[in-house]
Amino acid sequence: MKLRTRLVISFCIILFLPIIMAGGLLYAVTAVLPTLDIAKTHNEYEYIRRLPGFQQLAADMFTAVVVILVITAIILIIWTYSGIISRVRQLNRAADNIREGNLDFTIDTKGGDEISELSESFEAMRRRLQRNAQEKLDAEQEQRALIANIAHDLKTPITAIKGYAEGILDGVADTPEKQERYIRTIFNKANELNTLINELTLYADIDTNRIPYNFCKLNVQDYFSDCVEALEMDLENQHIRLSYSNEVDADVMMIADPEQLSRVIHNIIGNSVKYMRAAEPSYITLRVRDVGDFVQIEIGDNGKGIAAKDLPHIFDRFYRADESRNSAAGGSGIGLSIVRKILEDHGGKIWATSREGAGTTMHFVLRKYQEAANEKSSDH
Ligand SMILES: Nc1ncnc2c1ncn2[C@@H]1O[C@H](COP(=O)(O)OP(=O)(O)OP(=O)(O)O)[C@@H](O)[C@H]1O
Ligand SMILES: [Mg+2]
Repeated sequence: MKLRTRLVISFCIILFLPIIMAGGLLYAVTAVLPTLDIAKTHNEYEYIRRLPGFQQLAADMFTAVVVILVITAIILIIWTYSGIISRVRQLNRAADNIREGNLDFTIDTKGGDEISELSESFEAMRRRLQRNAQEKLDAEQEQRALIANIAHDLKTPITAIKGYAEGILDGVADTPEKQERYIRTIFNKANELNTLINELTLYADIDTNRIPYNFCKLNVQDYFSDCVEALEMDLENQHIRLSYSNEVDADVMMIADPEQLSRVIHNIIGNSVKYMRAAEPSYITLRVRDVGDFVQIEIGDNGKGIAAKDLPHIFDRFYRADESRNSAAGGSGIGLSIVRKILEDHGGKIWATSREGAGTTMHFVLRKYQEAANEKSSDH
């Protein structure tokens, strides 16, 4: 029962009980007494009223009224108090637990009164705090995984640099050709380290929203044609064929940060190159489609593919499919998480389809710039 209803009932009883009793008393004096036929005139009534027996009766009745009122008040107070106090105590215990940092309990929210509403709010607060604590724990675990990953990824090139430098110092590289090969390897490994550190810095900046986006209105056809032109040569050198198709109209525009979008494309194509199957003639396809309010870009390859169990996780930070972690292909599993974050910041999304041993396709959408619609709405 609601606390307000409880108090209204108590108020009514406390108010009306004395009135009913006083009415009963009045009725006894005015209606019942004449029927007793013991007094005929006013003077006789007065006489009876002053009789010691009558006064005793009035005193007894007054006492009875007081006693009934006290008992009623006590019952009502116990009734109201018992409905509240146990749950207030429960909330008190809950507050103590929360203060001590113990969030593994539940608060009983039964009943439909105000205290239950308060208990529900408390329970929601406890659940929220528990979720936050869990998220914090997960973030800490992620940080630990990050440190382990960084340590792992830094170790490989550093070990190589140390080995080749030692080779030069110890005189193992005794010919100028050998020395040059050693120095070139050291240079390449140092470059790998540099890329990794840049990626980690970018990741930290993106994660904390410190990347200022420079959104521009871009022509879809022009942007991707330029992009393909820049990519083609690079891929050709690696004996990878790039096929490109653009199915959007020449005047379709999109809003994007060209630099960050290029980072997205390079990251995806970088993966396609990295996870190619060595024996096959390799190819990458880039297809740009018009899908209503969005432009959909599909980048496919005929590489190793991704196992179904790994596919839902490839956009998670530091996730690398087991095989690639063990393989020689370097990387820390950050690339696709950066890609996803950039696309989400553009109001788009990304997903992947893949078949192991056959290839992978990354699909992402970017919102079109609706110039025609904007102009129309300003015409009206
Ligand atoms: N085109 C692809 N073909 C096969 N596997 C892929 C492809 N793209 C991504 N993957 C899988 O998804 C995982 C995550 O990719 P992501 O780009 O995030 O990390 P990475 O390439 O391993 O490292 P990084 O990009 O940080 O150098 C990769 O480890 C790989 O297993
Ligand atoms: Mg990658």
